[in-house]
Amino acid sequence: MKKNKQDTSWESSSAWYDKLVSTEGHYYHREIIIPGILALLEKYPNPDGFLLDLACGQGVLARHLPKKMKYIGVDASLSLIQSAQKKASSNHQFFVHDFTDALQIPKMQCSHACCILALQNMPSITPLLQSAWEHLKKNAPLILVLNHPSFRIPRQSSWGVDQEKKLQYRRLDCYMTPLKVPIQTHPSLKTESETTWSFHYPLSIYSAFLKESGFTIDIIQEWCSNKKSQGKMAAMENRSRKEFPLFMALVARKI
Ligand SMILES: C[S@@+](CC[C@H](N)C(=O)[O-])C[C@H]1O[C@@H](n2cnc3c(N)ncnc32)[C@H](O)[C@@H]1O
Repeated sequence: MKKNKQDTSWESSSAWYDKLVSTEGHYYHREIIIPGILALLEKYPNPDGFLLDLACGQGVLARHLPKKMKYIGVDASLSLIQSAQKKASSNHQFFVHDFTDALQIPKMQCSHACCILALQNMPSITPLLQSAWEHLKKNAPLILVLNHPSFRIPRQSSWGVDQEKKLQYRRLDCYMTPLKVPIQTHPSLKTESETTWSFHYPLSIYSAFLKESGFTIDIIQEWCSNKKSQGKMAAMENRSRKEFPLFMALVARKI
């Protein structure tokens, strides 16, 4: 890593993250994200499917793709890439790269690219978008899955209860200002905990970066949690869960 570059990889949290995700994915991978991505991929069929997974972690997406789809996963964490390689099929390849710089490899002509829950861990999103553009075929889709940037802003969004209206509301303390927030992997350990970084941008900035990087936005989906509450708060919690999406999936096509 070059001097002055911030290491945003999840290397220091890799053992915890690898265990959490395991072979099939964590709860939201299994229930919401992977089914959502597979449904989006079906909207862009390609008999010679070749998917580039940017910031792939330990490669959970690879293990859910159609068997004949070729796959390359890239991530800055060596340990997560090593874990991915141990679980890989013969048409899956993985390598280490930090997206503070664009990928410097020969053009791959991929049919699809994905970046799942990782763009918000990077200080600059342009090198990743440039890499996707460089290695996608013309018109091919890049699928981004984000913690919903309008409703989930680290330390600046929270739930509240309005007793009079008997509803749970979402409170936002700021939105337009870009933010950089440290996230403790194990909050109970306080300063002893490993830390990852989260970067917030409003939606308009993602749209502007995508346009600047040569993409046009095709689809935006907003995915809600499917969990169900029990007990006396259940009605208001279940209602607000359906009102405020957890994730935003954005499909942009290379122009
Ligand atoms: C929340 S994990 C998501 C991983 C995977 N996409 C998944 O869904 O399991 C975020 C990932 O982003 C990777 N990451 C963070 N900054 C990066 C960077 N600058 N270049 C490449 N990968 C990075 C981390 O190492 C980590 O694997």
